[in-house]
Amino acid sequence: MRRKLIAGNWKMNKDLQESEKLVSEIIAGLKKIEYDKSDVLICPSFVSLSDTYKQISGTPLNLGAQNMYFENEGAFTGEISANMIKSAGCKYVILGHSERRNIFHESDELINKKVIKAIDSKLTAILCVGEILEERESGKQNEVVKSQIEKGLAGVSSDKLINLVIAYEPVWAIGTGKNATPEEANEMHKFIREIISDLYNKNASDEMRILYGGSLNDKNCEELLSQSDIDGGLIGGASLKSESFLKIIETSNNI
Ligand code: 13P
Repeated sequence: MRRKLIAGNWKMNKDLQESEKLVSEIIAGLKKIEYDKSDVLICPSFVSLSDTYKQISGTPLNLGAQNMYFENEGAFTGEISANMIKSAGCKYVILGHSERRNIFHESDELINKKVIKAIDSKLTAILCVGEILEERESGKQNEVVKSQIEKGLAGVSSDKLINLVIAYEPVWAIGTGKNATPEEANEMHKFIREIISDLYNKNASDEMRILYGGSLNDKNCEELLSQSDIDGGLIGGASLKSESFLKIIETSNNI
C-alpha cells in the first residue's frame, strides 16, 4: 500500500517572516485534522530551510529543497550541495522541475547527475517530468515522459528506488488554473508505472509513489487524489495558503 505524499513547492515565494507565518499556520492547522495516512512535505526557498527546520521539529512535517547541484563542494557560484541541504534539515529534494528545465535550461543529463547524487546522499529525490502544451497537442506526451524518465534514471539501480518519488506535472497545467482531468492524469500515471516496470520490475513499479502536480487545489484534489495511480500531489499555488494546503492534506486522508 503506497502512502500518500502531499508536498508543497513554494517556488520563489515567501521571505523569512512570511515563511515563519505560513509554517506556524500549517502546524496549528495540522493539530485539528487527521492526516495519519499521508506524509506531508514543505519545500520553502533555500534561505528559509534552516529556520523552518527548527520550527517543524517535533511535528510530523518533512522538509525538502527545490533544487541542488551534484558536486560535493567547490567553485560553483550560486549552487548548493546535497550535504548543505541535508545539514539544513532536508529529507527530500525536488529535481528536474519544469521551471528548472524550461527557464534554466537544465538537461536530462544534468538532472540525472543530480538524481544520482541526491539518492547516494540518502535524500529522497522527487523527479519531475511532464510535457509542454505543443507536445500534448501533437500526441507526444508519452514519448516525452518516457524519455525524461529513462534519461533521468540512467544508472539508478532498483535498490535505490526506495529514495525516489516521481511527479508528473504537465507543463500546460502549472500555474494556469487548468488541471489535467483526473482520467488524463491517471492514464499518464499508469503509463509511468509501466515504464518503471519495464526499466526495473513490477514490484518497483507497484511501490513507486507518483505525484500529480499542476493546478491541484482544494477544489479538485478529491477527484485527482482518488484516482488509482495518483499517490499525492506536488502543489504550487495552493500550498502558499494554509487553508487550501490543509484542506488538501485532510482530503487525502479521507480517500
Ligand atoms: P501550481 O500548483 O501552482 O500549478 O504549481 C504546480 C507545480 O509546479 C508544483 O511543483
